[in-house]
Amino acid sequence: MNAKPTNIFTVHSRIDAPARAERNRHKGGVLWLTGLSGAGKSTLAVETERALFETGYHVYVLDGDNLRHGLNSNLGFSHEDRTENIRRVGEVAALFADAGFICVSAFISPYRADRASARTAARESFHEVYVMADVATCERRDPKGLYERARRGEIPDFTGVSAPYEIPESPELTVDTMALDIEKSVQRMLDYVEKNFTLSD
Ligand code: ADX
Repeated sequence: MNAKPTNIFTVHSRIDAPARAERNRHKGGVLWLTGLSGAGKSTLAVETERALFETGYHVYVLDGDNLRHGLNSNLGFSHEDRTENIRRVGEVAALFADAGFICVSAFISPYRADRASARTAARESFHEVYVMADVATCERRDPKGLYERARRGEIPDFTGVSAPYEIPESPELTVDTMALDIEKSVQRMLDYVEKNFTLSD
């Protein structure tokens, strides 16, 4: 790592968050989806995005698999690299929220301390959503065949198999995808957004 830069100042925008929210008719913020691979984060994120977009929300998805092709293409799955992954995307999500968007972020983000840093970046606009499904369920689904490969020892540090996942202690919302189908899971998200992001007339 390089030394911390010095002589850096802060530029203040002339547009504040209430002005953006007033124009969009909703607040900006981060819906931070965390959970195991195969828990349903990406599906929930894109279906929520589509439903919100269709009703006029400014909404955008950040997804782990996608960002690892670009911004985070130099990172792997060691603890250190995951921490850097979440540090970067936590900052990006906070920028989207600041721009007035509802930013739906889908990352395993297995470490509590890293999720806490993402929360700090977005301050009070951060909402943690635990997409709940246990290892046995995710392994049964195994949509990408990764659990099978991890069990064979072909993927080191695989979350839930050979790397830890720290369950959220007090998420703002839990979506149990073992109990709810996709439609009901999305509805939980939409209800939450309606209650917490929409401006009353
Ligand atoms: S995180 O742990 O740093 O938050 P992220 O959400 O960006 O992970 O990426 C997870 C995705 O990378 C998984 O959905 C899976 O497709 C893929 N992947 C590849 N190797 C691993 C691994 N060792 N552990 C978990 N996911 C992995």
